[in-house]
Formats: sequence, structure tokens, C-alpha cells
Amino acid sequence: MSEVLLEKPAEGIAVVRLNRPEVRNALNLSVRQMLAKHFTDLGNDEAMRCIIVTGGDKVFAAGADIRDMVDRTAIEMMARRDLWKPIASCPKPVIAAVNGYALGGGCELAMQADIIVAGEGASFGQPEVRIGILPGAGGTQRLTRAVGKFRAMRMLLTGEPVTAREALAMGLVSDVVADGAVFETALGIARTIASMPPLAVTQIKEVVLAGQDASLEAAMMLERKAFQLLFATSDQKEGMRAFLEKRKPEFRGR
Ligand code: CAA
Repeated sequence: MSEVLLEKPAEGIAVVRLNRPEVRNALNLSVRQMLAKHFTDLGNDEAMRCIIVTGGDKVFAAGADIRDMVDRTAIEMMARRDLWKPIASCPKPVIAAVNGYALGGGCELAMQADIIVAGEGASFGQPEVRIGILPGAGGTQRLTRAVGKFRAMRMLLTGEPVTAREALAMGLVSDVVADGAVFETALGIARTIASMPPLAVTQIKEVVLAGQDASLEAAMMLERKAFQLLFATSDQKEGMRAFLEKRKPEFRGR
């Protein structure tokens, strides 16, 4: 069976499932290539509304595959750097459904999602320092932006993980639910997003992500432009008319 499974549980919703349970879903080169391909294809698929990335009900991912990295050279590692891009820049909303360990590249994969749903028993950490490296897929940057310098430094410099509840308190995850309810919760959120007007959804994602790295003034301008642009869509007319006519809107992505 493939090490990365692609499922379509409902219209407009895709699930990208890591499937290397024997090594705790460690992310080797071929898994990363498959992830990059799936996210590229799903990002370009007009019918796709929301993507869930998960490792199943036991473990999300224990990070990059250490066996696959131990003898690599710096040049070989450089060749892998673009494989995260299709995930981080995916225009469709991405939900990480996290059970068990999300460590190293696993935590970084979750942080490339837009929403993180974690089970009570999940843990998040950047243990790279313990094996002589540092996070290479956003752990020093996305984590710091999400939780602030002091909590990020605590995790990065000690390698110690935090529980799902601690992650929630820090702002590192969106929801904590019972372990058995993680996937259903993520699917419920995906269904809600899939029922929203798709152009508004993609504009929200684009503005939030681009705005994070801009000045407030520039980010507010991005927001204003996207807001104005949506008045060129029929979904805006439909959404507002349906509200006024007290009926359910029918969004068409136009
Ligand atoms: N790479 C390769 N193999 C891994 C792995 C990884 N990241 N994580 C676990 N495995 C393998 C183990 O080697 C073991 O294989 P064998 O059965 O052949 O011995 C198997 O998975 C089961 O692992 P454990 O026996 O250790 O299972 P456990 O349940 O006792 O512990 C764990 C689970 C806490 C996740 C532990 O395996 C662990 O600490 N893993 C490494 C975590 C880590 O350091 N991640 C960072 C990687 S570097 C990185 O991610 C760089 C980056 O920024 C992109």
C-alpha cells in the first residue's frame, strides 16, 4: 500500500493520509515527494474546497526520517528544500488532524496547515536539537510566530514536547478533542468550509498568510483590496440576497 494515501470522503474534500505506521509516519524523501505532488494537484483542482492532512488515529508524524538523513550531504539536503512549498503555499484551506506525536517535521507539517485539530493525547515538539540539527521546515519561524519567542525558545532549545492542552493554551492548535473524535471534528470543519463561497475562502487564506509578514498598513490594504474584489463575484450578491430573502445561499464559485 502507498505510504501516502489520498481519499475523497465527500464532495470537495480530500484527505491526505500518511501511512508509515512502522516508523511513526517518519517523513522520508518519497513521502515528501508524494505530499508535494498531492498538494500541488489538489491546490490546482478547481473542485477542491478543503484538504485534511492526517497520520491516522495513532501518530501524526515523528518528523523527518532520521535513517534517510543520517548520511546525507548538505547539497543533497538543499535539493529537498522546495518539497514543502506546495503545502505551505496551497491556496485551499488545509486542516491538520493530529493524533499522537507531531514532532520535528511532523509539527512543522501541522504548522503549515491553517487549522490544527488535536486529540487529547497528542503532543507537539521540535526535538531536532537532540540530534544535532535544528528544525528545517519552519520550526524556528512558524512556531515563534504562533506562540511567541519565549515559549518557542523553550521548546526549540530543550527539545521537550508540549501536550495538546498546553499547545492549545499557547495558540499552537485550534481545537483539542477526544482522541477518537479528531478526524470527525476535522471533517466537520472541512464540510463547513466546503459549503462556504470558495472565492471568499481563498481570499481569506491568501490575505491572512500574506498579511502576517507585511506591515499592518500594507496588510490592511491587502485586506481592503480583497474585500472590494469580492464585490465582483456573483457569490457576494447571492450571499447577501439570500440573507435578505431568508433562504439558504447557493454559492457557485463565480
Ligand atoms: N525517523 C526514522 N525512524 C523513526 C523516526 C524518525 N523520525 N521516529 C521513529 N522512528 C522509528 C524508530 O526508529 C523505530 O524503528 P525500529 O522499530 O526499526 O526500531 C520505530 O519508528 C518505532 O519508534 P520507537 O520504538 O522509538 O517508538 P516509541 O513509540 O517508543 O517512540 C517517538 C516514538 C517518541 C516518536 C520516538 O520514535 C522518537 O523520538 N522519534 C524521533 C523524533 C525526532 O527526533 N524527530 C525529529 C526528526 S528531524 C526533523 O524532523 C528535521 C526537520 O525539521 C524536517
